[in-house]
Amino acid sequence: MFDLIIIGGGPAGYHAAELAANSGLKTLLFEKRAVGGVCLNEGCIPSKALLHTAKLYDYAKGGAEPYGVTCQNPVLDYAAAVKRKDKVVKKLVAGIEMSLKKAGVEIVRENAVVEATVPVARGTPGTASPTGFSVNGRQAKHLLICTGSEPIIPPFCAGAQIMTNREILALTEVPETLDIIGGGVIGLEMASLFNSAGSKVTVYEMTDKIAGPFDREISGLLQKTYEKKGVTFKLNTRVETVTGPTLVSVGRRAATAGNGLETIGVHTENGVIVTDEHMKTNIPNVYAAGDVNGKSMLAHTAYREAEVAVNNIVGAGSSRPGGAGNNAGGTVSNAGGKTPPLRDRMDYSAIPSVIYTNPEAAAIGETLESAQAKGFDARETRLPMMYSGRFMAENERGEGLCKLVWHDNRLIGAHLLGSPVSEVISTLSAILYNEMDIERIKKIIFPHPTVAEIIKEAVFHGT
Ligand code: NAI
Repeated sequence: MFDLIIIGGGPAGYHAAELAANSGLKTLLFEKRAVGGVCLNEGCIPSKALLHTAKLYDYAKGGAEPYGVTCQNPVLDYAAAVKRKDKVVKKLVAGIEMSLKKAGVEIVRENAVVEATVPVARGTPGTASPTGFSVNGRQAKHLLICTGSEPIIPPFCAGAQIMTNREILALTEVPETLDIIGGGVIGLEMASLFNSAGSKVTVYEMTDKIAGPFDREISGLLQKTYEKKGVTFKLNTRVETVTGPTLVSVGRRAATAGNGLETIGVHTENGVIVTDEHMKTNIPNVYAAGDVNGKSMLAHTAYREAEVAVNNIVGAGSSRPGGAGNNAGGTVSNAGGKTPPLRDRMDYSAIPSVIYTNPEAAAIGETLESAQAKGFDARETRLPMMYSGRFMAENERGEGLCKLVWHDNRLIGAHLLGSPVSEVISTLSAILYNEMDIERIKKIIFPHPTVAEIIKEAVFHGT
């Protein structure tokens, strides 16, 4: 009998498995493909490896000239770049497998199917409920579903030569032309990669702007930058037929089918598993974390959700003060003085998002538009990135923007364009998460010279 069976070994599943095993739970992880999931094997990491190659190639093709570096006849060996990407992925997968092994996690490489609930003897230590679960013949007291998501393929793509993130990242040659349906994160990152690599790229987007919920001005600037580089954008264009090879990046849907979850009655709504702030489903001792609950569909959200789920599983029935599951926001006390089970809670209010184009775009919290739509008396401060000395030292054209959104002197949103804002946004995440007001932010000491100093500049110059 396992304490915990986890279905799916992506960011939510593998992180949860390691944490659970290190917390003393006898843990089994089912993964039918590769540990690391979509993010590590065919998403976040491989795309970043290839985008790095693309950036170097851009520099070699003339991008480095303003910095005094000229290259003669640079060549992109795309097959070699893909080989390196595969090597990076392999190393990281091996690293995760090693950590799981070290923690004592048992990994089963099968498609997991929950067969039925099985009785578990009352009073078994650590058991909060008299039910257990049977998955491919293995029994457990708790289940954590981390089955992730899969690309949405619209019906008009049936029979057409389409690619998803999986196939496009496995190409070993650069296509002459590339049509992309969807100007969201995947569409833009792949447009960036293949534009640098030499493809003639067209992005079709059915709304009036690229980059989904990103700040409208930042989206517009990003689009202009890529138009200058030769990418064509067809906005307000809903694609309804496909002819040639096309990347389809129109969103992802939770992967809830094929694991027998209906046999134990796990509640889904609009195709996602419904979870509460403790990552619990409607079935006692069944939790879900990551894309499958449809809350945010980002790997970094999945990591935190996994922690919340495991902390609650470990804390369930336990009254150890300060034990797993205890956090500042999650500890509850009762009037009777008896310490109740510790509960960790998921907080979705400060989740950053990044588009790894060149330049990068990063955002967190409200835009001025979304804040005003919610009735906040919000205001915005904005500053060109050139106010950062480090940014100017490394970005010849000096293009980039930092926008901060305020409500009652508290920072409620930040929106940036320019590299490497993917690193700068972490500081803003900490500021938002800790609900800092302007006076406190002003006292933060930033290392000089760093691009993150733009936050300090934007606070001082914009207020
Ligand atoms: P997305 O939701 O970001 O963008 C899809 C876009 O397709 C939307 O702008 C939508 O208006 C458009 N669209 C839908 N149907 C269309 C049609 N028929 N014709 C034209 N346009 C159409 O989805 P995407 O890019 O597929 O990414 C999926 C998920 O992967 C995201 O939710 C994200 O969480 C994750 N992801 C995150 C990354 C990051 O954080 N850097 C990178 C890659 C993926």
